[in-house]
Amino acid sequence: MTQTPLIQLENVTRAYVMGARTLYALRKVSLDIRASEFVAIVGPSGSGKSTLLNLISGIDKPDTGRARVGDVEISALGENALAQWRGATIGIVFQFFQLLPTLNALENVMLPMELRNAFPTERARRALAALERVGLLDRATQLPSELSGGEQQRVAIARALVNDPPILLADEPTGNLDTETSEHVVRLLSELNRTGKTIVLVTHEHALARAASRIVQVRDGRIVEEK
Ligand SMILES: Nc1ncnc2c1ncn2[C@@H]1O[C@H](COP(=O)(O)OP(=O)(O)OP(=O)(O)O)[C@@H](O)[C@H]1O
Ligand SMILES: [Mg+2]
Repeated sequence: MTQTPLIQLENVTRAYVMGARTLYALRKVSLDIRASEFVAIVGPSGSGKSTLLNLISGIDKPDTGRARVGDVEISALGENALAQWRGATIGIVFQFFQLLPTLNALENVMLPMELRNAFPTERARRALAALERVGLLDRATQLPSELSGGEQQRVAIARALVNDPPILLADEPTGNLDTETSEHVVRLLSELNRTGKTIVLVTHEHALARAASRIVQVRDGRIVEEK
């Protein structure tokens, strides 16, 4: 079976020049991810995992090589086109949730829709549907400070889902959670994968990586193993 990959990194290099020396965050990395895959990226601290995710989302650009998603070459997009493309295509979940503390759960989930001109009632309806999907409909009016860590992360996942993007990227989403809550979050990612979302999960924890259909191991800016 051949299928054009949804996400394609082709020989990407990302380097930081630090005075006299150059630090290679990624060295000529190639990685194909097909639609509906659930891929875990594992590797030691500093190995290039976040850099890799940031090249897929266009938050960062490769110095050489190409990053493509679908038929879009990300480096070719200008700033506005990039923001619009990302909003529709990619949901991102971070380790520290990054919820706005003065907004309640529902308002946080509605944030990514501000760029789009849906009616307020339609936006609220969709945000409530996203909260329902992560099992937090009954927490909609609570502030982040009134939620547990796991609940805050589920709100962040609802926010990442609200525009119904085909791709979900998660960078250490469980790095700040206890084991049981981490498992809950990863189960949620698995469920979303079963409904067709393509998922790329960066994690330190091999036990959590096992939920993925493929594990990619990164070391010193290179992919050293795939299984
Ligand atoms: N803005 C920057 N300036 C200089 N070096 C950077 C910058 N961003 C990242 N790096 C370096 O690039 C390498 C890869 O960083 P990256 O954040 O991708 O690692 P990581 O695998 O995500 O690590 P962690 O598990 O700790 O999050 C590291 O050596 C890091 O120090
Ligand atoms: Mg990182």
